[in-house]
Amino acid sequence: MPDGRTIHNLALVGFMGCGKSTVGQMVARDLGFRFVDTDSLVEERAGLSVSEIFSSEGEAVFRKLEKDAISDLAEKQALVIATGGGAILKPENFESLKTHALLVCLWAKAESIHERTKHQKHRPLLQGKDPLGTIRKMLAEREPFYKQADVIVNTELRPQREVVAQVCHQFEESIKGTSGLAEA
Ligand code: S3P
Repeated sequence: MPDGRTIHNLALVGFMGCGKSTVGQMVARDLGFRFVDTDSLVEERAGLSVSEIFSSEGEAVFRKLEKDAISDLAEKQALVIATGGGAILKPENFESLKTHALLVCLWAKAESIHERTKHQKHRPLLQGKDPLGTIRKMLAEREPFYKQADVIVNTELRPQREVVAQVCHQFEESIKGTSGLAEA
């Protein structure tokens, strides 16, 4: 790592429905790391689902819980962290994760995300009348944040097993300090 970061964890970032949790669990198994999902950490602490937190407490409360969960991970080692799709929009989350984790963004285009998420009910931000329009708008707004990741893996170019292998490879290279850290 060129800029003095101590990389001992791997964080998956990117839009909802890009496979962070599924890929993250497979990567964790391959690396022999523990898998954590920031949404699950928030749900455990709140005793409520993400949807319930959004509807009864509001998004701001969810974002505060998410920030606390992320900052607590900074002390931990050998983790694969699946972050919620909005997590790295907060600079403090991005900065915190960057100190200890390689940031890998899983990318897909809006239409594919819509296909993958259209029958799911657990994402409050995608339950409106025009989910594809919402995805297009949010993805465009968030793209600059996602592109700050160390590596971007396009999940549409290869089967999931290859996405997992690519993420593991990038991580192994980064801890050797030899990675080009580019688009993969
Ligand atoms: C959100 C993504 C969700 C969850 C919450 C908000 C977002 O996580 O954190 O519904 O703002 O993109 P996933 O990306 O795991 O679906």
